[in-house]
Amino acid sequence: MIKGAIPLKIAGIGYSVPDTVVTNEDLTKLYDTSDEWIYSRTGIKERRIVSGNENGIDLGEKAAKNALEKAGIEPDDLDMIIAASSAPIEMYSMACQIQKRLEIKKPIPAFDVSAACAGLIYGLSIARGFIASGMYKNVLIVATDNNSRLLDWSDRATSILFGDGAGAMVVTSSDDGKDDIIALDIQADGEQGGLIELHLDGDACPLVKPNDKREMKIRMNGKGVYVFVVKLLPNYVANLISEAGLKTEDIDYMVPHQANIRIIKAVQERIGISDEKVITNLENYGNTSAASIPIALVEGVKNGQMKLDSKVLLCGFGAGMTWGGAIVNLRKGVC
Ligand code: UT7
Repeated sequence: MIKGAIPLKIAGIGYSVPDTVVTNEDLTKLYDTSDEWIYSRTGIKERRIVSGNENGIDLGEKAAKNALEKAGIEPDDLDMIIAASSAPIEMYSMACQIQKRLEIKKPIPAFDVSAACAGLIYGLSIARGFIASGMYKNVLIVATDNNSRLLDWSDRATSILFGDGAGAMVVTSSDDGKDDIIALDIQADGEQGGLIELHLDGDACPLVKPNDKREMKIRMNGKGVYVFVVKLLPNYVANLISEAGLKTEDIDYMVPHQANIRIIKAVQERIGISDEKVITNLENYGNTSAASIPIALVEGVKNGQMKLDSKVLLCGFGAGMTWGGAIVNLRKGVC
């Protein structure tokens, strides 16, 4: 911790997922695929997706309220809201919409961070900066994504992977002097941006040369992402642990971004962490982008796989390409 910095407490974690379930079997109605193909390549059995007018703001509101309740903090006590959303339903901005839904009348700062599936860890880093400097006390991070509305549902190599969901984390200045952040790091490499793309482009002004039309759909080079991440993430996570002065056996649980079971296994094997310490739920939700870590965290505690107080390793990667890792102390009652 930087000298003089105010320690941070992770005070509450919540989540919300839509009710509608789409199974691998359901996807066979859209294109030529099978449960066996999808499950063996990804570890996914089903995903939740929004239906009708339900959207990421509804999910984000529920997750935020859930996290605030766990933290025992009233919405009006928040000093800042960060929304980590890479598939937002509103570009201007998800965080402001969450502020509105929480009926916060104070003009606190609310803004979005676009760091794709690493968004929660990016949000946590930003929140930490503001809290550590003493500028703010209570910060809400909401990761919410409507991936299903931005997928090409005829592209079987991409649409099998994603689901919708929201996760939220309330972080505050620590009241007992203990810092819940043991290590925290974020990185990016724009050279790899072509691996996962989502163009946001409209028509040029009629007075100028027209632009090439680009569709607004998630496009992914699956194999390219896989190769890039499997090369990068295992060593990155191993370094994060050693630079924190820890050994793998000091880590009680690993909660990775839920993208692909084979990527998770690669990280797990590199750092030598046993199966029962690795929390996965992508079988039921697919890849819910930045929401996947908080959803897995809360479920891990709920289903008894995780016991708190514990040292938990979080790691994620996503479009950009962005990635990040954190080693945090999670206290009893946080989720
Ligand atoms: O947060 C960002 C997360 N993104 C990721 O984590 C992506 C990581 N990558 C992956 O998970 C894998 O690359 C995929 C699961 C997306 C694809 O698996 P793969 O083993 O890399 O398959 P591939 O793209 O090399 O395709 C192999 C074959 C192709 O057929 P041909 O050309 O060999 O005849 C594909 O057309 O599998 C075919 N294929 C499918 N077959 C059945 C692609 N998608 C499907 C499908 N069902 N859904």
